[in-house]
Amino acid sequence: MSSHTSATSADTFLSRLEEEIRNDGAVRHPFLSRFASEKMALWQLQAFGLQHYQLVRIFVNYMTNLLPRIPDPEAESLFRVVFNDEFGQYTIFRSHPALYRSFLRTLGLSDGAWGRVTPLPEVSRFIEGHLHLTREGDFLEALGAVGPGHEFSIPMMFPPLVAGIKNNTTLTDGDVEYFTLHIEEDKEHAVVFNRLITKFVGTDEGQARLRRGACFSLSLRKAFWDGLNRTLFPVGKGHL
Ligand SMILES: [Fe+2]
Ligand SMILES: [Fe+2]
Repeated sequence: MSSHTSATSADTFLSRLEEEIRNDGAVRHPFLSRFASEKMALWQLQAFGLQHYQLVRIFVNYMTNLLPRIPDPEAESLFRVVFNDEFGQYTIFRSHPALYRSFLRTLGLSDGAWGRVTPLPEVSRFIEGHLHLTREGDFLEALGAVGPGHEFSIPMMFPPLVAGIKNNTTLTDGDVEYFTLHIEEDKEHAVVFNRLITKFVGTDEGQARLRRGACFSLSLRKAFWDGLNRTLFPVGKGHL
């Protein structure tokens, strides 16, 4: 007991971590404010959409990798809540990747375009890092990457994306539903993940592992925004 008595309570730890994430370099990345405020051509929005879709289409795999590795009987029912949203509860046409593909079509992209794009190195590193962590890394780090690292941070990163898309196109609310839906749903998903995480972060050691995973995910996210910044706003093209 003695080594554990100094641990911050799970709730306090999680609210401190969330405060840290609100100020993280990925969440406050300059690319996001630039995307929201700059005038952009269609090619820029298309490049953004095609690269971001690579992350969107793989996300659920992190969860399917991770679920059987979590030593808690409640994990399955908690994950089920998120799976129902991800897969589209009543129809596969509303799965999250399907909603994103609808968005890509409204940008004038054909169905196969996302399969032909060369992923940015930052996109590949993001995906490989998360696949590796969720498949064979520490399960608690992986929970940190998927819970606070994704579900908690996404509702703060998506509003500037919606603003940029709407400012530069005639897309409707329905066309950008993938993004607006996540701004709400992921707040609920973060709460679901926290219910599970709470069981494992009663010790300093557990807290450190969880935080390490969240930071790992956010560092890859920051690099992803860096890559998009370089691609969408190349220096020497009038965007400094
Ligand atoms: Fe989703
Ligand atoms: Fe989510």
